[in-house]
Amino acid sequence: MKNILTVLGIVLTIAAVVAAPLKDKDQIVLISTSANKELSQIISKKLDVPLSGESKRHNDGEVNVNIGHVMNREVYIICPTCHTKTETGEVQIDQNLMELYLMACAARRGDAKQVTLIVPYFGYARQDRKTKVGVTISSADVAKMLEVAGINRIVMVDVHSGQTQGFFSPNVPVINLHASLVFAEYIKKQGYQDIVVVSPDAGGVERAEKLGQLLADSNIDYSLATLIKKRSAPGVVESATLIGNVRDKTAIIIDDICDTGGTLVKAAAVLKANGAKRVIVCVTHAVFSGDAYNTINNAKDIDEMIVTDTIPIMQNSATKIKILSVSDMLVEAIQHLHNSEPISIMFEAEREVARL
Ligand code: R5P
Repeated sequence: MKNILTVLGIVLTIAAVVAAPLKDKDQIVLISTSANKELSQIISKKLDVPLSGESKRHNDGEVNVNIGHVMNREVYIICPTCHTKTETGEVQIDQNLMELYLMACAARRGDAKQVTLIVPYFGYARQDRKTKVGVTISSADVAKMLEVAGINRIVMVDVHSGQTQGFFSPNVPVINLHASLVFAEYIKKQGYQDIVVVSPDAGGVERAEKLGQLLADSNIDYSLATLIKKRSAPGVVESATLIGNVRDKTAIIIDDICDTGGTLVKAAAVLKANGAKRVIVCVTHAVFSGDAYNTINNAKDIDEMIVTDTIPIMQNSATKIKILSVSDMLVEAIQHLHNSEPISIMFEAEREVARL
């Protein structure tokens, strides 16, 4: 009897997780900026909604956007505000941001019913407070700029700091999704024993605990550890002190961003020096400034790195960097929003499935 109830529970829960099929698909206008066309194409294919809109650059670098007819329709703009490196060149963060701003303005001026930004990586989020005289709170200023464009809501993945949600007015809901769901699925399949989930700095302990909880929901034991990181200058990690035990364990470092790679290289070295058997790194946003990709690839203390596709990455063939997609998560978010279903269902139900 208990088994029948369990199976019934699983069926009901899965039914709650999967959003209902898209009704009135032609109401949706799916637009991509130039920032991450690959991810946009995957989302478009999975939703079975074509990508529309185009942008050109004038000789002087000005961007010119055209999103077509959007009157009374729901517009979703896929637009990470990252620095984009592709085979054909580089696009700076501010260029991606301006293109996004103008597309959102075009949607509002075109009398769209709703304008939703899908921002898998929200750049500027690290500048979230006044640290000295003369600086601004860039994250808040970017939020205001997007609001001026008339957006209705915004979906992000692992925004660097929670207060960014409060930088938008209450009438612009911010939905922050977590890539830890994607990482947990991957880790579960590897069958690791003696896992310690490690935060590379004090600020990331909550994120590490969230990943640990997802593993525990699938009956995988874990312990927690953290490093206390001190920087001597931006991008330079002076020291990292370990709190916790990693000896003979598989250490899984989780972080939101890899920028120069300095944090992870230092953290992995400290973990190996303290007896960790292997070091796996899970990072949502592969910012990879400068030569960071090679820095990670050549780091002897990092055994494997898992990143997501919130930012496009140019892979080389001999790499220890594996890319997992957040597309399913974003597709599901769009389905829920379009069907006017509360998005919190996504988190709660996924946790239920993980627990069963
Ligand atoms: C800091 O709070 C972030 O979570 C990352 O740890 C940081 O941005 C990584 O930077 P880098 O790769 O340059 O050390």
